[in-house]
Amino acid sequence: MTGNPTISDAEFARFQKLIYDVAGISMADSKKVLLVGRLSKRLRQYSFTTFEEYYRYVTTGGDKQEFQLMVDLLTTNETYFFREGKHFDFLRKVAQAHPKGRPFEVWSGASSTGEEIYTICMVLADELGIDGNWSVTGSDISLSVLKVAEAGHYSIEKTRGLPPEYLKKYCLKGVRSQEGTFMIDPRLKSHTRFRQINLNQALPEIGPFDVVFLRNVMIYFDANTKRDVVARLAKKIRPGGHFIIGHSETLSGLNEELKPLQPTIYRKPT
Ligand SMILES: C[S@@+](CC[C@H](N)C(=O)[O-])C[C@H]1O[C@@H](n2cnc3c(N)ncnc32)[C@H](O)[C@@H]1O
Repeated sequence: MTGNPTISDAEFARFQKLIYDVAGISMADSKKVLLVGRLSKRLRQYSFTTFEEYYRYVTTGGDKQEFQLMVDLLTTNETYFFREGKHFDFLRKVAQAHPKGRPFEVWSGASSTGEEIYTICMVLADELGIDGNWSVTGSDISLSVLKVAEAGHYSIEKTRGLPPEYLKKYCLKGVRSQEGTFMIDPRLKSHTRFRQINLNQALPEIGPFDVVFLRNVMIYFDANTKRDVVARLAKKIRPGGHFIIGHSETLSGLNEELKPLQPTIYRKPT
């Protein structure tokens, strides 16, 4: 087959419903080209000529790995170090005020490839010490991004947003065969744990956390999904803990329990 296969409106609607049911992601009609671009390779892999065949394969074929791969391909994973920097200034203050003697625990609930996780780590290492009593849990629905996050090994192009002094202090520059890459310092990594968590389903036994980051994922959800996801996550925040969302997101009209402190930063009452 040369070029990408075409998709009918009915076939596209089936994938829209599938990704909505699984991940809560509302894929706009305008995303048809994107879906074709991302899934065409998978059709070629199986020599399928129509999206209908691939849909049937992932939904009835019992190939869980392919299903996961499809989910991975239909998520948008853009992220970078120190994205929306004001949130990390806030985190710094919360960490400074944290009572000694109890671990400081943070959850990055849609962590993508890990830049958010390691930014949190860098701030906490600054404030609580690299050997301090703190941990960062990173989770995502996509296994492929979690693998990158867990490896903590990035191309040097990924330093966007990362101040040079942090690159120097908390990362190891690759040499010889690793030239052009950098690794997160294992001492930072030792504070992290990773799990695959679908926010659109009942959550596993985790937490409670002092701070939960849920940034730049709710933009893909409709109002009902947002409401359910936030209610689920709110239960995982310690009384007095904080919930941080992306700059283009709001909890207005979605949740009564979490109280706005600053735009995009909420607090769970004690
Ligand atoms: C744009 S990235 C945001 C990364 C990071 N939080 C940031 O703000 O830079 C959105 C992430 O949400 C994840 N995601 C989408 N739906 C999800 C769901 N139902 N459960 C968990 N993660 C989900 C995607 O896989 C993707 O990695």
